[in-house]
Amino acid sequence: MTEAAAAGYHEVGAETTARANRGWWDSAADSYQDEHGEFLRDVGFVWCPEGVDEAAARLLGEVAGRRVLEVGCGAGQAGRWLTAQGARATGFDLSARQLRHSRRIDEASGVRLAAVQADARRIPFADASFDLACSAYGALPFVADAGAVLGEVRRVLRPGGRFVFSVTHPVRWAFPDDPGRRGLTADRSYFDRRPYVETDEDGTPTYVEHHRTMGDWIGLIAGAGLRLTGLLEPEWPRGHRRAWNGWSPLRGALIPGTAIFTCEA
Ligand SMILES: C[S@@+](CC[C@H](N)C(=O)[O-])C[C@H]1O[C@@H](n2cnc3c(N)ncnc32)[C@H](O)[C@@H]1O
Repeated sequence: MTEAAAAGYHEVGAETTARANRGWWDSAADSYQDEHGEFLRDVGFVWCPEGVDEAAARLLGEVAGRRVLEVGCGAGQAGRWLTAQGARATGFDLSARQLRHSRRIDEASGVRLAAVQADARRIPFADASFDLACSAYGALPFVADAGAVLGEVRRVLRPGGRFVFSVTHPVRWAFPDDPGRRGLTADRSYFDRRPYVETDEDGTPTYVEHHRTMGDWIGLIAGAGLRLTGLLEPEWPRGHRRAWNGWSPLRGALIPGTAIFTCEA
């Protein structure tokens, strides 16, 4: 993984964001899968660090026989679980290295996910070709124009199709990304939409994460022609001790960490 020379908040364009994040996910994929692969499971659909599992939550409803698209599938753990449930699942991701891990796990598990390399801003599938779409922290936090991605997801969903996606809970933006006590004191504006940017020694962005307030998300969903039908703010489960970066039992007991939106086309 590359070390950032500097980090801060400033405007970054859509292409620069995509270039930075493709590079970041390619270089971080090995350590990411090392660190989180066991929690995600090779064939498992975990929505968030709180551990909400689709096997119990059933946010997508019935998946058997449905055509399902996983947006920003990473190593494909969720798409593989969908396949094992009888769905006709397809995934895509920006990072070739993440997709390499997906193929490695296909071989190891014997459950194969059809996955391609693509940018969520231009989804390479025909209109109305999926019944369901899902994304567990995939792509949406890492694009400058989340509305364009939501519009693309709506385009590839059949009318009435469902899209469920999880992202960092918007309120977290105001707090330091620290699992300890420092992470409990707000130190920046929830309303500051400038993205978080890490840069190398030359000042070139190497990682970009974009923020939307809760109101922004609702506006973007409606603007894309989707209908919001549910919003889950999972509580930190009693006895769940595993921290994931800034998501920890300490903070999870006090402030939400994830927002899971359910929408219909
Ligand atoms: C936090 S991971 C989520 C993947 C998987 N659900 C997981 O929990 O490991 C974010 C993924 O989004 C992908 N991503 C980032 N920007 C993207 C884009 N513009 N289009 C498609 N995928 C993107 C990254 O490559 C990465 O695999």
